[in-house]
Amino acid sequence: MRVVSVLNYKGGVGKTILTANLGAELARRGRRVLLIDLDPQSNLTFCFYTPDDWRDHLRSHHTVKTWYDSFRNGRPTTSLADIIRPPKAVNSIVGKQGGRLDLIASHLRLLSIDLDLATDLRGTNDDMKAELFQVRGALRTALATDPLPRYDYVLIDCPPSFNILTQSAIIASDHILIPSRADYLSTIGVEFLYGALEDLVQLHNKRVNKAQQVAPEIAGVVFTMIEFYRQRPVMTQQFYINRVHRLGLPVFSHVMRHNVTLFGNPMPTSMPAVLHPKLDSQIAIELMGLVSEFEDKFKTERAAAA
Ligand SMILES: Nc1ncnc2c1ncn2[C@@H]1O[C@H](COP(=O)(O)OP(=O)(O)O)[C@@H](O)[C@H]1O
Ligand SMILES: [Mg+2]
Repeated sequence: MRVVSVLNYKGGVGKTILTANLGAELARRGRRVLLIDLDPQSNLTFCFYTPDDWRDHLRSHHTVKTWYDSFRNGRPTTSLADIIRPPKAVNSIVGKQGGRLDLIASHLRLLSIDLDLATDLRGTNDDMKAELFQVRGALRTALATDPLPRYDYVLIDCPPSFNILTQSAIIASDHILIPSRADYLSTIGVEFLYGALEDLVQLHNKRVNKAQQVAPEIAGVVFTMIEFYRQRPVMTQQFYINRVHRLGLPVFSHVMRHNVTLFGNPMPTSMPAVLHPKLDSQIAIELMGLVSEFEDKFKTERAAAA
C-alpha cells in the first residue's frame, strides 16, 4: 500500500482535480484505490456525490469528521473502515478490470476540527504536545492497523494550509505529490512546503523510536493548467517550470493541460475527465502518460530496493 498526500499550501492549483483523475485512472487500470478528502471544502467529495446524496447518506456517519469526532485523548474510537464508501457510478466503470475506488468523504464543518482540538487540548503544555503528537500520528496508525480492504494506493487530498489535518496526512504518507500552477505564487508555495515538510518530519521523529520514524519522500511536482503554444508550455509558464527544476525537486515530465471544458467544472453526475468515453485523444495521451509516470516512480523504487 502506497500512501500519497496531494499537497500545496496554495488553493486553486488543481490538487483536487488531479487527485480525482489520478485515482480514477489507477482504479481503471485494476488498482485498488482509497481516496481521502481531508479538505473541509469537500471538493473531492463533490466530484463523486451530489450535495443531496452527501446530506442523505454521508453527512451524519460517513465522513472524516465522524472519525475525528470520535477522538478521545488524541486517539480515534472508531475505525476508518466504518466511514469508507465506494461511489457507485465510478465503480461501475473501474470495476470491470478488478479495480476499486473507495472514498472517505469530507465534511464542510471539518473546518472546526482544528478549533475543537485546540479546545480539547487544554491541559498543561506537555499534555498538549503529547496529544497533538497523537492526533498527528493517528491517520498513519489507523491506515496501518484498522481492518481495511487491501489497497494499492491511498491518495489524500489535503486542504490548502498546514493545519493539523495536513500534518496528519504528511505523517501518514510515504510520498508527497505537489501540484502547482506555473506561476509566481504557486511556485513560492512549493518552496515553503519543502521547508515546512522537513521541520514537521523532524519534530515527529524526535518523539518516536527508530522503527517508527517517518520519511515521506517528494514524488514530484506536477504542473497543472498548462497552456501550450506549438506543443510547448507558453514562455511565461516555462519560466516558472524552470525555476522549480532549479530547486532540485523532482518534476513530472507530464503536465495537466489547461482545459476548462474538461477540468474546469466538475459535476458529481459526471466522471473525472479521464473516464470520459469520448476523451480527446491528445488529452488522453497526456493523462495516461502522467498516471504511468506516477506508477513508474514506485516501480523504480521497488527495483532500487531489490
Ligand atoms: N487542468 C485544468 N484546466 C482548467 N481548469 C482546471 C484544471 N484543473 C483544475 N481546474 C479548475 O480550477 C479550479 C481549482 O482546481 P482544484 O483542483 O479545485 O484546486 P485545489 O484543489 O488546489 O484548490 C477548479 O474550478 C477546477 O475545476
Ligand atoms: Mg481542493
